[in-house]
Amino acid sequence: MKIIGTGSALPSLEVTNDMLAEFLDTNDEWISSRTGIRSRRLRSTETLVDLAVSASRSALESAGLNPEEIDFCICSNVANNYVTPAMSCIIQQHIGSHCPCFDLNGACAGFLDAMEVAEALLKTDRAENILIVCAEEPSRFCNWERRETSILFADGAGAVVVSKGDALKAIRLTTVPNRDVIVYQRRLETTPFEVPGVDVTEPLKMNGREVFRMAVETSQRDLHAMMEETGISADMIDYYVLHQANLRIISSIREHLGQPEYKFPTNIERTGNISSASIPILLDELYSAGRLKKGDMLALSAFGAGFVSGSAIIEWTK
Ligand code: UT7
Repeated sequence: MKIIGTGSALPSLEVTNDMLAEFLDTNDEWISSRTGIRSRRLRSTETLVDLAVSASRSALESAGLNPEEIDFCICSNVANNYVTPAMSCIIQQHIGSHCPCFDLNGACAGFLDAMEVAEALLKTDRAENILIVCAEEPSRFCNWERRETSILFADGAGAVVVSKGDALKAIRLTTVPNRDVIVYQRRLETTPFEVPGVDVTEPLKMNGREVFRMAVETSQRDLHAMMEETGISADMIDYYVLHQANLRIISSIREHLGQPEYKFPTNIERTGNISSASIPILLDELYSAGRLKKGDMLALSAFGAGFVSGSAIIEWTK
């Protein structure tokens, strides 16, 4: 595969740390020093579908394709208020394409899952062009009366169009079974036959320190494995486009790899953690700002609930 178009959309409302400190027991100093986040965008007047559609349209325009030229639409989403139909079906109705659609839930590593599936579809000649949209609103599963997770998560959508090419040098997905490190159960209807107490739903629970430790460990391990497989060394990578979960996680990975700071672009300072949309949004921002040159080698890496991780090395060909 190769990436031929990028797009992104963030909600219009900017929420600063001080705004959160008005109703949560927290402060700007704690949030910015522990996470790197200074503000984030949260949905107010727009829906997640609006953001996903806007990011998709921009990616199509950037690819120079019309909606009918898309052969598959894959949406990466953890949760939204549609249990059914899939987000990808709703997005395609808005953008006007008529291709097969499906969603996948790979938590914060969902963009890499979608790339793996897209690569397989392109290799078997089942598609020429695939739209990958990562649309996430993790802010909607936080408990907004508590400070632990509501300071981290935010909303947005990032999209890419991929087509046949040989830019993808390596991709690696892993899952270590660990349900408890980040868990959130959706509340569904109860049937008259269900025995009360059999299926108790849990609100969002996250062991932040454990996620931090596992994130640094898995990202480094995956990046090293891909470098060994391809012969592309850490020095040969131009940019490390990592999941924007915590600036300290990014710094730890950078220190382990012994690479300079300029190779690790970030937007977490103003976006917060937008789950799987994080990497495609950052890619779109970097491309739009003229920071990516044809031939640049990019390393992508993300991790999240599962515990899952996904990484890739891809040459920028646009
Ligand atoms: O996409 C994957 C999703 N998840 C992640 O990426 C999470 C990864 N983990 C992290 O980013 C960090 O672990 C957190 C930012 C969640 C927490 O940072 P930490 O440095 O691991 O802090 P901590 O949980 O060890 O808490 C340190 C102190 C505690 O107080 P005491 O026990 O030392 O008195 C907390 O109660 O900070 C307190 N604290 C806060 N204080 C002010 C926790 N949250 C807050 C807060 N504001 N929002």
